[in-house]
Amino acid sequence: MEKIWICDSTLRDGEQAPDAGMTFDQKITLGNALIDLGVDILEAGFPRTSSMDADVIYRLAREAQNRDVIISSVARCCQADIDVSVKVLEPVINDKKGHLHLFTPTSFTHAANKLHKTPEEILNMTREGIQYAKNFAPIKWSAEDATRSDKDFLVKCVQTAIDAGATTINLADTVGQMVDTQMQQLFEYVIQKTTHEGVIFSVHCHNDKGLATANSLFAIKGGAREVDCCMNGLGERAGNAALEEIVMAIKTTPEVYPFTTKIDTKKIMEVSRLAENFSGFQVSRNKAIIGKNAFLHASGIHQDGVIKGQAANIKTMYNAIPPELLGRKNEIVITRHSGSCAIVYVLQQEGVEVDQEIARELLQHIKERADHPKSFTREELVALYQELAENHKNS
Ligand code: KIV
Ligand code: ZN
Repeated sequence: MEKIWICDSTLRDGEQAPDAGMTFDQKITLGNALIDLGVDILEAGFPRTSSMDADVIYRLAREAQNRDVIISSVARCCQADIDVSVKVLEPVINDKKGHLHLFTPTSFTHAANKLHKTPEEILNMTREGIQYAKNFAPIKWSAEDATRSDKDFLVKCVQTAIDAGATTINLADTVGQMVDTQMQQLFEYVIQKTTHEGVIFSVHCHNDKGLATANSLFAIKGGAREVDCCMNGLGERAGNAALEEIVMAIKTTPEVYPFTTKIDTKKIMEVSRLAENFSGFQVSRNKAIIGKNAFLHASGIHQDGVIKGQAANIKTMYNAIPPELLGRKNEIVITRHSGSCAIVYVLQQEGVEVDQEIARELLQHIKERADHPKSFTREELVALYQELAENHKNS
C-alpha cells in the first residue's frame, strides 16, 4: 500500500495556541516521543520567532541524527529566516535529514493587506527564497491561505515553487475555510494544472469549522500524500488536524483510504498524555480516540452488546475502532442508564458471586438514585450489593 507521510507540527503550530507553551525540556521530551511514535517529519519550530525554538530544533536535530525521521524548520521566504533555519538544522543537514519549510501567503487578502505585496512580488519572493534555500536542504513550500487564493494564481505560485526547486508543496487551509469536497477539488485542480514530477503534495488544515481531519482526508482523495497534523489537535484557535484522528481513520478504513502510515498506534495514548500535560490543554472526555470516554459504555443496550461481543471475540460491537490498536480496551461503567447484564458483569469481574435477584434489586436501586446522577464506582457497586445481600439474609 502507498504511504501517507505524517508531518507532525505539535512543537510548532500546536504550540502557537495561546497558553500551550512548553518548556525547553518538555519540548525535547515530546519531540523524542513523537519520533518514537513514528512521525516521518518532525516540524520542530520556527526559529526566527524565538530563541527557544532555535535551541529546540538544534537539540532535536542532534538527537535525531541516527533515527528514521526528518527534522523540519519553518522560515519565511527571506534570507534572514532561511539562514537561521539552516544553522539550527546543522546536525542533520549533510545527510538530507533536515528540511526547510518555507511559506508565502498566496491569497490577495494576505498578500496585499498583510505584506503589502503585489502578486508579482509574491511570485518573486517565492522563487528567490526557494532558489536560495535549496542550496542547503530539501524544500517544502507552503501556500499560506491557499484555500482563499485565486485558483489560477495559486497554480502559478505552485508552479513557480516547483520550478524553483521545492520538492514538497503544501496547500494550507490557514483559517479552516474549506468543507470536504472543496478540498479534494482544490488538490485535483492544482495537481492537474501543474507539472510536478517527483513532487509530493501535502495538506495543512485548521479546525475552525470542526473539519480539519475530514478536510485532510479529502485532500488525500484529491492526491495529497503528506499530512500536517498535531497531537491532540493542538493549534491556534480551534486547532490543527489531529494526528491521532488522521492516522486511525486511515488505519481502520482501508476500503476508502488504501494507505499506510509509519505511526505505532499503540504509542498514541502515551504521547497524547504527554502533549496534554505539557501544553496544559486538557483533552475532553468525549474526544475521538484519545478521550477518556472513547471506549466506555454506560447505556444498557450498548453494554449488553459489548459484553456479548466480547464473548464472541467481536471488539467493535459498539465502537468503530478496535481499542486494542491503541492499547486500550472497552470498559463498562454503571450509571442509571445501565442494564442488568452490565451489573452482573461488573460484579463478577470484582469477584462477587452474584445472586440474580439481588442484582435486579441493585439495578432498580441505581435507577432510582436521583441523588447520584454520575456513574457508580466499582467499589460503590460492590458495597451496595453487599448491603442488599445483608438485608436479604436478615429478612
Ligand atoms: O496555517 C498555516 O498557514 C501555516 C503555514 C505556515 C503552513 O501554519
Ligand atoms: Zn497552520
